[in-house]
Parts: sequence; C-alpha cells; structure tokens
Amino acid sequence: MALVSTKKMFQMAYKNGYAIGAFNVNNLEITQGIMAAVKEEKAPVILQISKGAREYAGISYLRAIIDVAVKENPDIPVCMHLDHGDTFELCKQCVDDGYTSVMIDASHFPFEENVRLTRKVVEYAHARGVAVEAELGQLGGIEEHVVGISADDVFKHLTDPNQVVEFVEKTGCDSLAIACGTSHGAYKFKSEPKLAFDVIEAVGKKLPGFPLVMHGASSVLPEFKELINKYGGKMPDAMGVPESAISRAAKMAVCKVNIDTDLRMATTASIRRVFAEKPGEFDPRKYLGAAREAIKDMVKHKLSVLGCAGKATECS
Ligand code: G3H
Ligand code: 13P
Ligand code: ZN
Repeated sequence: MALVSTKKMFQMAYKNGYAIGAFNVNNLEITQGIMAAVKEEKAPVILQISKGAREYAGISYLRAIIDVAVKENPDIPVCMHLDHGDTFELCKQCVDDGYTSVMIDASHFPFEENVRLTRKVVEYAHARGVAVEAELGQLGGIEEHVVGISADDVFKHLTDPNQVVEFVEKTGCDSLAIACGTSHGAYKFKSEPKLAFDVIEAVGKKLPGFPLVMHGASSVLPEFKELINKYGGKMPDAMGVPESAISRAAKMAVCKVNIDTDLRMATTASIRRVFAEKPGEFDPRKYLGAAREAIKDMVKHKLSVLGCAGKATECS
C-alpha cells in the first residue's frame, strides 16, 4: 500500500470511537520502533515530521526511511504528515515532497490571518490530494520550532467553540487541532492534570462528523520518568496527560492524538539505563537498540489506549 491521507482513517475513527496515533519521527530507530508496534497490533498510523526533524535528519533521509517502512508493511495504512508547518512555503514544499497530510499552524496569529494563511495552504494542498490540519486556540509549552504560550496560561487560550464553524467553513481544512488544556513537552501541569472536556464536547457538537486533533497528548509515563531520574537525569516535576483522559477524548470527536514527548522519554530512559548498568558499553547498537525496543513496547500500549489496535484493515 502506498502512503495514504488521513481521510479514511478519520472517517473510521470518528464513526467507531477511537483515535489514530500520530507519532513524531526523527531517526531510524524511532521509526522502526513505531512500525514494529503498529505491525504487531495491526493499527493504522500517522508518522509526523516537524520542521526540526527535517532539519535534524535531513529531508531525504527521513523520506527514505518512511518509504522503506511503507514497503515493508503493505497491510498498514501509513500517513506521512507535516507537524506544525509554520509557513505556506514549508507546507507547499512538503506537499511537493509527497507528504499525504500537512498541518498549517497559524494559531498564534489573529483569527483573520489564521483563516487567510490556512485557506491558502488548503487551496494548494487539496488541488494535489493532500489533507490539511489547522489549529484554533493556543497550546502551551515551547518546542524547538513551535510557538507556544506558558503552560500556566493554557486555560486562557482554549479554543472558542463559537469560532469553529466559521473557521472550518472559511478555510476548508480537513481536521482541527484544538486547545483543550494540553501543552507540548514534559511539563504540562503543575498540580492536578486537567483537560477542558467541555471545550472538546462543545466543539464536537458544533462540528458534527468533523475530526478534531489533540496535540500535547503525551502522558509522561511514570516508568520512564523514574528511570530517567534514577539514572542521572533530572525531570522531577515532569507531568503529562493521564491516559484515561486520552481514551475518553478518543471516544469523542478527537480522531488524531499527537505523541512525541513519550517517545523522547522512552528513548532517554533506555539509553540512560544501558549507560548506568553497563558503563563499558560503547556500541551504539546496544543502547539505540534498547531505545527502539522500549519505543515499540510503549507504542503498542498507546495503541490500546487510543483504541486503534486491530483497525488497519478498516482504515485501508
Ligand atoms: O509539537 C512539537 C513536537 O514535539 C516536535 O518538536 O519541533 O522539537 O521537533 P520539535
Ligand atoms: P507531546 O509533547 O505531548 O508529545 O506533544 C507532541 C505534539 O503535539 C506534536 O505535535
Ligand atoms: Zn503539536
């Protein structure tokens, strides 16, 4: 099967109350770990590439890795998606590079400018059969190339349900990332984790049948946090979104759930453990191999949290 867009995946996810995992890929081992998991669990998958990933790994290297992943897994629907495209030019480049879905993140601009830029990307992408994710409302957390607000302020910048119909109608976007209390990165909450389910519900009611996207959805799994802190790392206050909240959102209109931090933490925890337990080890295959294995196990677990395990065939 060639790369697919998100269209069928989202139709089935919406109809049957689950969400597709969108995992950030930056190198070979991360991609292999994710693909081994979706293969075993027979799950559809979105492999997403940020601007930082394109710069880190090289556009052609990542493309080649994903091409092999698709070729080796003919029964798995795989979408190659641009995560947080910040300009029309970047989105255009990814459409031209063969991505099957792109995100234009203009959510930090005023509404009218967000509409204008998103519409421009939609016109270019749709003419070439590529799906477009847009964003309304602002997430917290700062990543390398992603504009965000302080995690303390997320509840001041939630998506306004009263704007979503106008935004979707004017832009023609295929899915909408909403701000519902999550932040990017490992420090999402200071105390009790809380999501704005009222916003998810209200947006879902305004846009029946329309797929929503949850960014910043990593859970900061305790097993990895503990290993990192035990083996010389320092992430004592890291806190993520409880998996029960992810499962609940996946049963609502949220059809795509973005996960990067949990991949980073699985990688870091495994590598730290190898270094601590075997200080004489210097073969990268030993510690990168351990990271790849941990990613596979973690992603398998996530697929059941999202409810998309076993759904490859119906999404094909
Ligand atoms: O949402 C952001 C993703 O975690 C990508 O982060 O720009 O550091 O690759 P990055
Ligand atoms: P996390 O930082 O919670 O993994 O979110 C990733 C994300 O939203 C990528 O777009
Ligand atoms: Zn994001």
